[in-house]
Formats: sequence, C-alpha cells, structure tokens
Amino acid sequence: MEKTVMQITLDTRPFTTLEADALVTFLFEESDPIQGRVAEIDAVSGGLLKKIAGSGEATGKTLEFTLIHSPAGLKATRLLLVGAGKRDQFNSATLRKIAGAALRYLKSRSIKNFAFLVREGPANAESAQALTEGFVTANFETDKYKTEKKNGKEIEAVRIVGYSDAEKAAGEKGVAVGKIIAEAQNFTRDLVNEPSNKLTPRILAEKAEAMAKEAGLAVDILDEKKIAELKMGALLSVAQGSIEPPRMIVVTYTPANVKPGAPVIGLVGKAVTFDTGGISIKPADGMEKMKYDMAGGATMLGAIRALAALRPNVKVICVVPSTENMPGGKAQKPGDIQTAMSGKTIEVLNTDAEGRLILADAIHYAKQLGATHLVDAATLTGAIVVALANINVGVFGSDQTWTDKLLASARATGEKMWQLPMDDEYREFIKGSFADIQNIGSGKGGGSITGAWFIREFAGDTPWIHLDIAGTAWNDDAKPWLAKGPTGVALRTLVHLVQTY
Ligand code: BES
Ligand code: ZN
Ligand code: ZN
Repeated sequence: MEKTVMQITLDTRPFTTLEADALVTFLFEESDPIQGRVAEIDAVSGGLLKKIAGSGEATGKTLEFTLIHSPAGLKATRLLLVGAGKRDQFNSATLRKIAGAALRYLKSRSIKNFAFLVREGPANAESAQALTEGFVTANFETDKYKTEKKNGKEIEAVRIVGYSDAEKAAGEKGVAVGKIIAEAQNFTRDLVNEPSNKLTPRILAEKAEAMAKEAGLAVDILDEKKIAELKMGALLSVAQGSIEPPRMIVVTYTPANVKPGAPVIGLVGKAVTFDTGGISIKPADGMEKMKYDMAGGATMLGAIRALAALRPNVKVICVVPSTENMPGGKAQKPGDIQTAMSGKTIEVLNTDAEGRLILADAIHYAKQLGATHLVDAATLTGAIVVALANINVGVFGSDQTWTDKLLASARATGEKMWQLPMDDEYREFIKGSFADIQNIGSGKGGGSITGAWFIREFAGDTPWIHLDIAGTAWNDDAKPWLAKGPTGVALRTLVHLVQTY
C-alpha cells in the first residue's frame, strides 16, 4: 500500500508555464511523431524534439522512454516522452498503461511530482479516468513487509494537464471515478499479496467486515458452526483438513430505490487462503504462490467496495467462501463422497480440485439469498495457463446474453478476456461413478472446461459466468506499469458490468 497519499488533480493552466519535476507526454509511432501539442513543445524548445525524433532516438514505439533534462521553453525541469504506439490503435487502455509506466519510470528516479499532458486526444472523463487508474495502480508496491523501504521514492503529486476550463468538470469526474476503481483494485491486490500466515479465513473475514462497515455495506460472516448448520458439506470437506476454521463471507450492496423483483447480481469468489492441494499434495517447487488462491474472493470484495462508492442502481450480493486446503489428519481423501448444500453428492477424486467444491456451496447460497445473475471468479485451474497463458482471463458462461455483457465490459475497460466453449459433451467428463458428480474430469484435457462445468451444475438455470483468473491474477514479473505480484484483474470489468446493467 502507498505510504504517502498521492494527490491527483487537474490543472487547466497552459502546460508551458507549469512548474514540475517533469512534464510527461507521449508520441505516436508515425512518420513524423512531432505533431499537435508535441509540436507546440517543439516550437517553444527551439526545434529540440524534431532533432531528437529526426535522429531516430524517439520513434513513438510502445513504451519507449526519452528523458530530456532542462528543456528550453518549459518551466518543468524535465520532459519525458513516452511511446504510445500506432495512433489508430490508441485507446484508453494504452493511455492507462503509459500513464502507469511513466509514473514508475519517474518514481524509480526519485522524482516527486509530474504533470501529464493529454495531447490533442479527447480531454474527457474517460481519458482522465484511465490516467488516474494507471497512476494509482502503478503506484502500488508490494514492499509492505520489507523493513528497508525504497527511501524517498514516493510520488507526491500528479497533475493532469491539457484540459480546458470547459473540459475540467468532466475531467474531474473521471479522476474521482478512476480513484474509486483503482483504490479498490489496490485493496484487492493488498489482500492477495498477504501471505497465508497473515491472512487466514478468519482474518480475511475480519478485513471484509471492516471494509464493509467503512463502505456502508451490509455484512454477514458465517462461522464454522453456521456453515455446518446450513449443511455446506462441500466447503466443509475442504476445510476439515486444516486447523483453521472456514468462513463464508457475505457482503451486500442495496441501492436506494430497488424495486421488488428487480435483478440481483451475485458476485462469488474463491478464497482459498492457501492451497497445498490437500492429500493430493502439490509439488514443493512454486507452492509459495498458492497464497494467491484467494484472488477471486479478493476481487469480488474489491468490486463491491468500489460499487458502494459508485452507487449503481442494482442490488449486488458478494459471497466469498474461504478456507485453507491442507493435508491435516482429518483431511478428506481421494474417493471420499461429500454432500453439497444443494443435496448433490460429489466424489472427490482429487483433493486439489478444491476451488470448485467451495464454489458449489457459495453459488447455491448466493441463489438462496436471491441472486438472479451470477458471476464467479476463481484461480481455478493450471490448465487455463496452458490454454491462454497469462494474457487472457478464461470466460465460461451458461447464458450467452449475460456472457456477452461481460465480454463487452471487458473490452470497455481494457481487460483481456476470452470465452471458451461449454458444449454438453464436456459435461459427461464429470459424471460420477459412485456419486452424482466427480470433482475432476475423466476425459483427456479440457481441464478448465470441466472445472467450469462442475460449478455450473450448482448454478442450474440461473444465468452464470465463470472467470478463471489462475493465469492472470498474479504477474510473475513486474511490468513497466505494474509491480510484480497481484494484478487485481477482472475488477474493472465487474464494476463496469454492474454499472451498465
Ligand atoms: N489453485 C489451483 C489452480 C492453480 C494451479 C493455479 C496451478 C495456478 C497454478 C487449483 O485449486 C488446482 O489445484 N487445480 C488443479 C485441478 C486439477 C486437480 C483437476 C490443477 O489445475 O492442477
Ligand atoms: Zn487446488
Ligand atoms: Zn486452489
């Protein structure tokens, strides 16, 4: 989490007169990259930029950085040009990325404040929102547990420039919305970053409760007794291997004038605070990453946190089943048969396919609480990395109209998502031999699809979407615009989906 609060404001004064540690703007990759407002800078600097571009040093290639010290004609002490790629491919997703990359570039050079000039592109709410999201998510660091901080490397203030007085109100609205969404994303990332000794299901529940109270949301935490009373046998089967008790976290957002019978969106997220695999134990190599197995739950909690501030006109219920998956003395064993809350019986052939088990009860419970449209997010399968690498979120759906809405939201918010098929043939893979269904597929391949089909069995006729974020919730390497580690992926899409419902 950020230590100092970074200020983001809009400044309508002419950019040549602004005092700052750096003025940032961007170049397009085109035959003459010095055009529009960049040409204005070139003019006041006596042709400096044309010279730099002419020599081939600054080309506008995506994420190319050119730092110029003491530029003539500007009050800013530095000018940073960021490559934005081809002009016809430029959109708010590019803007978000280059904003973040510029912030991290300058921050690593101990710069305290800068002004970001939107060029002749649209100076509207959308651009200001994208810039703000880029800045705030880029500023997030995962050094919470480092006792030696990167001293002095803090961005204190960012100004967005290039907006006229007439455009200022829209820009400020964009900044406000962008802050809400990006801070929620960082809230999610902070939870995902927590190691399992600092974030057990009980602690996650406490944090969710504190968040809900602060955001003015209703919250209900089901403890292990209540979970047993409600016969959530699938969740309990995973939890029984651990000394840490499970929790079912329910956070509800209700808008002011909700009509009876109106749709209710259920956001369900897997929150396994550590996944050892259980008796079907995982190999030691890389197991430490399994602290991130609660990313789906953290995403849903972050999404409802943002929605509480944005106040859309639709009711949202967030249901987060949380447990550890451990191979304790009481752990379930392969072949065990469990009864889910819905009454369906499940043959547990692999205790490492635990996410779908806890989601089974959470989905059933969300429906019981009144959800008419469901979305779940889960770090569900390693197989999704085989299918889509760490680039796209895997999307599965039972209702194409509902799924198309989500895909449209993903496009609008610049999050890469790709739908995979759910033909009935795949369903055969999870038919049980000794119980109704089994928790892994008997066929060859299609591991992410059989996982999705398992969850779908519990969604029934309720329109349902499953997001497999196993490949995208964690960056194994830092990106120029984002620290290594938790990404907070899917949150922006989910917030947009609810807001546009
Ligand atoms: N949390 C894992 C998914 C996962 C695995 C994420 C590897 C990232 C890397 C999940 O609970 C799991 O273990 N899934 C199994 C399912 C299998 C047993 C059918 C998997 O993907 O190996
Ligand atoms: Zn697992
Ligand atoms: Zn898991």
